[in-house]
Amino acid sequence: MITLEDFDTYPDFPIEGILFYDIAPILASPERFREACIDLMPPRDAQVDIVAGVDARGFIFAPVVAQTLGVGMTMVRKKGKLPGELLEADATIEYGASELVINPNGIAGRHVLVIDDILATGGTARAVAEMLEKAGAASVRFSFLMEIGDLPGREALASYEVASVVVI
Ligand code: PRP
Ligand code: MG
Repeated sequence: MITLEDFDTYPDFPIEGILFYDIAPILASPERFREACIDLMPPRDAQVDIVAGVDARGFIFAPVVAQTLGVGMTMVRKKGKLPGELLEADATIEYGASELVINPNGIAGRHVLVIDDILATGGTARAVAEMLEKAGAASVRFSFLMEIGDLPGREALASYEVASVVVI
């Protein structure tokens, strides 16, 4: 199981007042990386038809989880990186804002597992949920490596199943 000690911390990054939790040490260790991917797996009884990886750090773990589950993956990207007819949503996060997009093809009626490294304000995850619901997902659940407990991420996702490996 991944623990708080597996992350490096950087005060005042990317802006003053933010304590940045870095997944680099987890990625650098094949054992910890493998463990992180196992920890991110949904419960056995969860129905998952497709995994959604969140640009950028969610992309590191989501493909491993998707391949382990034997399902496909879709990319939630920062705006400007995906072609085609897209859905968009604004994400306000702790240190700024970003615009996210998905291609809604193949989402309708599917049970989606969203993978990301960290749940902080929940701004990113809410935007992802909003787009997936608009695309007609049958259900949306989330799996994070870390949840920052004194930020309102959990409340922002109150209507979803949310699993976090480390809660601080
Ligand atoms: C970070 C992190 C989560 C999000 C969490 O992504 O990887 O996706 O912020 O914050 P929130 O709960 O307040 O939305 P960010 O877009 O900063 O960077 P990345 O592209 O490196 O993933
Ligand atoms: Mg991110």
